[in-house]
Parts: sequence; C-alpha cells; structure tokens
Amino acid sequence: MNYETFYSDSILAPERFWETQAKEISWYKAPKTILSKDENDYPLWYADGELNVCYLALDKHIEEGYGNQTAIIYDSPVTQTIKRYSYNEVKTEVAKLAGGLLALGLKKGDTAVIYMPMIPQAAFAMLACARIGVTHSVVFGGFAPHELAIRIDDCKPRVVITASSGIEIDRLIAYKPLVDEAIALAEHKPKKVVVFNRKLGARIPFKKYDVDYDALVYGSEEAPCISVPATHPLYVLYTSGTTGKPKGIVRDTGGYATALKFSMKYIYGSQQDEVFWAASDVGWVVGHSYIVYGPLLNRNTTIIFEGKPIKTPDASTFWRIIDDHQVRIMFTAPTAIRAIKKEDPQGEFIKQYDLSSLRTQFLAGERCDVATLEWYNQHIPVPAIDHWWQTESGWPMIANMMGVEYLPVKPGSAGKAVAGYDIRILSEEGQELGPNEEGYVVIKLPLPPGTMKDLWQDNARFQAGYLQKFPGYYFSGDGGYKDADDYIYITGRVDDVINVAGHRLSTAEMEEIVSSHHSVAECAVIGIHDELKGQIPLALVVTKTGETIEHFQLQHEVVQLVREQIGAVASLRDVVIVERLPKTRSGKILRKLLRSIADGDIFQIPSTIDDEAIIDEIAETLNEGKIGVFKKK
Ligand code: COA
Ligand code: AMP
Repeated sequence: MNYETFYSDSILAPERFWETQAKEISWYKAPKTILSKDENDYPLWYADGELNVCYLALDKHIEEGYGNQTAIIYDSPVTQTIKRYSYNEVKTEVAKLAGGLLALGLKKGDTAVIYMPMIPQAAFAMLACARIGVTHSVVFGGFAPHELAIRIDDCKPRVVITASSGIEIDRLIAYKPLVDEAIALAEHKPKKVVVFNRKLGARIPFKKYDVDYDALVYGSEEAPCISVPATHPLYVLYTSGTTGKPKGIVRDTGGYATALKFSMKYIYGSQQDEVFWAASDVGWVVGHSYIVYGPLLNRNTTIIFEGKPIKTPDASTFWRIIDDHQVRIMFTAPTAIRAIKKEDPQGEFIKQYDLSSLRTQFLAGERCDVATLEWYNQHIPVPAIDHWWQTESGWPMIANMMGVEYLPVKPGSAGKAVAGYDIRILSEEGQELGPNEEGYVVIKLPLPPGTMKDLWQDNARFQAGYLQKFPGYYFSGDGGYKDADDYIYITGRVDDVINVAGHRLSTAEMEEIVSSHHSVAECAVIGIHDELKGQIPLALVVTKTGETIEHFQLQHEVVQLVREQIGAVASLRDVVIVERLPKTRSGKILRKLLRSIADGDIFQIPSTIDDEAIIDEIAETLNEGKIGVFKKK
C-alpha cells in the first residue's frame, strides 16, 4: 500500500474513509450518519451508531472461537509473578465484576474512579465499567491524595475502585489510606470503595464504604454488555493543562473503537493474536489505548507489566520480557531506553536474550532524541519508530504507518501525518508556514474519530484551550516544523506543560503549590533539560521581605509540599532562591527566558523586559548552583 494515496484519501474524503473503517468493528446498530456536528458545532462521528467496547474486546472473540487465546499476561518482576489470563477467563471476571457494580447501584451514565497499580484488576475494572455503560476515570497511582481529590470532585464518581497496595522498586505503597485521605479532602463523597486486597501486607484501614473486590466478584452474576450510543463517554482521563486544574479529556465510544482498531492495523502493523506490549501505565492514555482497549479490540495478547525498565531487578527486564513472551511489537518512552542505556551502555544484557520475535519498537511520550535512537539502532536490529500523540488525541497523529508503508526514518522527526490528521504549522497570526519554519502545530478540523470529544462538563474551557486560538483548527499546544518532504519535527510544548520521564505535568500547578509556602513571595517553575528524564522542574523563588529561612530548609520544605500535593512523580528537586524574577513591563514573568538561561541556550534579551540587570543576577545564581550556563547573545 502507498502512504501518499492512503493519506490523501483520508483527507479528501474523510466521511467515506471513516465509513469504511467503521465496518472493521461490530456494531449493535451500524451508524448511518458518519460525520455530523454536536450542539456546539464540533464534529461528531457516528452519531446514530450503537455498540459496546467491552463486547468488542472480549465477548466477540469468544463467540468467534478464540476464548482460549491468552488475552493478558501479567508480568510483575516486583512480586515475581507471571500469570496468563485467557479471553474466557478475563470475560468471566469482568462480567462478574460488572454484575457486582450493578448490585452496588451503578448504572449507565454514572462515573467510577479507578486508582490502581499495574495489575490485571485495573484492566478488569475498566472493562467492567465499559460493559455496563459506566464512564471510568483512571487516576495514575503515582498521584497524591490531593490530585485524586481534585479528580473525584470534578467527575463525581459513585464508586472508587482501588487496590490495597502498589510497589515502587524498593517500597510498598499502601493505596487504600491514600484513597481515604482523598475522599476526606474531596467535597464529593463516593458511595462505595471497592478494594482489591493484594495480600502483600499493606494496612487496609476499614471504612464503612468499603467493599471487598473478591467478595463482590464471586458473589455476583455475570452482567451482559449493554448497547451504548457511539457518542457515549467511555472514559474521562485527566491531564495537565496550563492552570492548576487538570483537564478531563472526554473520549467517546464508537469513534475511539474504530480509531483503535484502525491504528492497530495501519500504524502498528499488528496482526491478530500477536503479543503487543506497551510498557506504560493504565493511568496514562497509552495505557488506555495500547495496554487495554487497542490490543484487546484487535485480539492481541497484551502485557500488564508491573515494574520499571531498570532496577526491577536490573536493565535486562525489557529484553527478558520480549524473549519470555515472544513480544512482536513493543511501545515505550525514550526515557526508559535512556535509563537502560545508562545502566548498560554496551548493551551486554541485550546479548543474553533472544529478541528475534520483535518486529517493531515504537517510542512516544516525548521527542525521541537522536542519541537514544542511534543507541537503540546500534543494539537492536528492528525499526525504532518515534510517533507523536497526546491524551487529547487518544491515538497517534504523526507516525510512520507501519501497516501502510514503512517510510525512511529521519532522526529527530516523528514521521509524517497519520491518515485522518491534516496537520499544519501556523504562525502566531494564523498564517501557514513553509518548510522548515517553526510555528504552532495545529490540525485542521474535523479531527478524525477517537479524538477528544470535549472537556468533562467544561465546554467553555475546551473551546478556549483548543479551538479559539486558530479558528477552524485544533491547537495541540506543541511547537514544530515540517521539512520539504512533509516530515514533522516536534520541538516541544509552547505552554506551561512539561514532560518529566514521559509524565505530563503542569508547571502552573507546581507554582501554585510552591507559592503556598509561607516564606515564598513569588515564584516561577520551569522545565529544564535533564539527561535521563528529558525535562525536570526547577523552582525559582523570591522569599518574602525579612524572611530568614535557610536555602536548604526552604528547598526541603518546598520539595515535600510538591510531593505531598502532586506526588513523587513531579520530580521537583531544585529550588533556587533569587532576588527578583525577570518580568515584562506589564508584569508577566519571562519563563521562556528563564528556561533558556537554565538550559544554557543562546538567547536574545526580549525588548519587553522591565530590567535587564535581573538576567545577570539570575544567571549568576544558577551558575553558582551549577544549573545552566550563561550564554547571552
Ligand atoms: N506510585 C507511586 N509512586 C510512583 C509511581 C506510582 N505508580 N510512579 C512513580 N512513582 C514515584 C517513584 O517511586 C519516584 O519516587 P522517589 O522520588 O521517591 O524515588 C518518583 O515517583 C519518580 O518516579 P519515576 O518518574 O518513575 O522516576 P524513577 O527515577 O523512579 O525512574 C525511569 C526513572 C526513567 C526509569 C522511569 O521514569 C520510567 O520508567 N519512565 C517511563 C515512563 C513511561 O513509560 N511513561 C509512559 C509514557 S508512554
Ligand atoms: P500526554 O498527553 O501525556 O501523552 O503528553 C502529550 C505531549 O507529550 C505532547 O503534547 C508532546 O508535547 C509530548 N510528546 C508525546 N509524544 C511525543 C513525540 N513522539 N515527540 C515529541 N513530543 C511528544
């Protein structure tokens, strides 16, 4: 197949293209209306179709005779467990859990929060919700109670489904007390908390709202799949935005199922019954799309991996898993490869395993730097494919479409636009830019099926954040450029979102927390370059007049505050005290300038700055703390 023809078909005749793709999944009621508009005039796919994603992920395969195929492999180096679940087994457990949730009073249209470590029960909970039309919202287990409480208040779940504990390399994390703390903090009070007891020794403080997961599953009848409209919200997934309040990305059902099935075939080039492994977490969009729904819809075997690329027990884990489970397609973040490279620069571990099953390595979550790509290519003889997408899109927007045509890889580029995405580069004024000119990465509407439908109960924010900057286009929040061959290079976020070890975080949210410290008058949190994690946050603080707190004490207290409020994943370690922050004459902090100083980039002093001397002061302070190099133009 030829990429150019395939791509232009999708852009020139989107309705026809996606009508064909919708036929690749089963519908209870096939859509007659392919593309229409919602009440806010936003494109809507398959408005009159009806289906159930849990049916497509499980029951359908069983009906077609594949019930004994392995659906999920749970590989947990941290508990030294490997367990396989067939499609039959997953379906029975999911249907009973769904029956249990119905017995707890949940019904179509309700919401449920899932706060789980990387165990199969997390996927069972998601699928059980989908089975009965309950919209789930999975919250990453690394987020602190405060973050969980924000999400509980926003999506108002009837139940929270959790586990007794998670394991982080060297420590057991008791989840249940975190859930109790979040519920105490939240204004909205869920009716029940379903707790899966992992029996690892974590304390499970009992509350009246608790329900034991096992008792619920074993005491319940299997619930059938219900038919939901294609536009029914399958899930809400919160992601960091440019304010302290996370954004609840709403995903539909019909468009998403169609897009995932499409992507498994045409982007990942995956055939049914192959082993597909996305080494991510169910708390992120990658986990939703390519640990749970995508591979199961496509009748692959998926792997739920409870571990890290290193230290569980060492940098050989990825290779051991590929060999043990005959992984055909793998997906991870470049930061994971950098972590492995650091521990095993010569790739000695790689030589100890048979990786011949592996066909393609996909990388996403952050830009794949050229050094990481080269190291991978030097040690592993399969294509390493960078691809670009976001929580909002739900599936890749720029990639090498391996199931269509394998195009030459250009290091530093995530490839060309995926079929369905009309990607343009615009200037601040909304003019389309030419080859190699850097600007805002936008997508001409309509976005293809499966992309975000709205922000949860906040359409005004959806319009303001994504649609109003460039009318007629979706604004991705990323900057980048296209070369003369239409390869797209993503250069990074143009807003206050940073990417720390593949985790998307908001510096605005961190600023709110840092500012709440009693000694802090004002602050700026910026993302600076980090060899391993890509970016890490740096807090620059101005203390209150007359404040005598020692730097080390302030740093310790601020770091603790951020860990308590957001979670350890924020990875804030450096807090620098400065006399003043550089501002424009209208009082806006010049964060981009601060980033350039800290990253040692050559920069131009903005003409809008109120006092140039501040730059030298800050550069000196950072240099003293060995952060950044001063390179004024
Ligand atoms: N629950 C509780 N705590 C968690 C957590 C979770 N689910 N996930 C991470 N944390 C904690 C870690 O224990 C660590 O705490 P510490 O500061 O007390 O040590 C902190 O959050 C930072 O964790 P992490 O970002 O994982 O850094 P690390 O130094 O432990 O590991 C990497 C570095 C690169 C190995 C790791 O970040 C990694 O595997 N990244 C890939 C991420 C990924 O796949 N993202 C999905 C993108 S598609
Ligand atoms: P998330 O919503 O957590 O998936 O984060 C999405 C953001 O991560 C994007 O807006 C980009 O800034 C960044 N990102 C993800 N994948 C890539 C990639 N392949 N290249 C460059 N940036 C990426």
